[in-house]
Amino acid sequence: PAKVTVPSLLEKKLLRRPISAITAYDYASARLVDEAGLDIVLVGDSLAMVMQGHENTLAVTMDEMLLYTRGVRRAVKRALLVADMPFGSYHTDDRDGLANAIRFIKEAGAEAIKLEGGRERTELIRRITAAEIPVMGHIGLTPQSVHRMGGYKVQGKTMEAIDELRTDALALQEAGCFAIVLEGVPRELARIITEELHISTIGIGAGPDCDGQILVLHDMMTMTFSPPAKFVRRYADVAGVMRKALEEYRHDVEARTFPADAESYHFSREVRELMTE
Ligand code: KIV
Ligand code: NA
Repeated sequence: PAKVTVPSLLEKKLLRRPISAITAYDYASARLVDEAGLDIVLVGDSLAMVMQGHENTLAVTMDEMLLYTRGVRRAVKRALLVADMPFGSYHTDDRDGLANAIRFIKEAGAEAIKLEGGRERTELIRRITAAEIPVMGHIGLTPQSVHRMGGYKVQGKTMEAIDELRTDALALQEAGCFAIVLEGVPRELARIITEELHISTIGIGAGPDCDGQILVLHDMMTMTFSPPAKFVRRYADVAGVMRKALEEYRHDVEARTFPADAESYHFSREVRELMTE
């Protein structure tokens, strides 16, 4: 199967072929994602919550994001590898934002970066794309805005908010984004934006009319510890599988039924003979 690239994703919009995307943060799961043929692997800053146990995404640093991205890079052969700019890495000024985007490409092998925000980010996005780095936008429920939003709430519910998000989507396209994540917005708004753009919309909690879909791997696999959001479909119960295996292992160790003789190494015949002399 051919390598997924920014041009091949732009073409998918024209051909109306859905784009499949998911997060991954480590070598093993990224390998499974890539081998399953998904189009986009995002090293999301959601790793702050699902990998590091933070309350929200704000704490994760550039250096930590680079560390996770490098592991994923070694696994991914076909999918497009997108790295998420963490909170603080592009909020000081555009110079810092560009420098941090470059770090993801140079130091971790990402092929594109993602950042949150609308019109207020277009100057930065122009600079990053001018440096030959493809940018994915992200509007709607932007988790890095948790304190401004007062929690994780569906966005784009008033006429004013709807107009603002439509304007933001067009501004991001104009600034050079190759795709935009629409998170936590009414299905109807996601549909309107998807029809208005010639770049792809990738939805999460944005309904079925987007050009693509993305989920957090740990949510869809059930490797999380609280009830899922409405938009999460549970495709597997990995936590259940792991819990059962761990309890069995513990039982076997305590009952001395693990390891068995067949799972042990043995002296060679020569050593055995010398020992019995
Ligand atoms: O960090 C993340 O996982 C994301 C996706 C959910 C879009 O930003
Ligand atoms: Na994110």
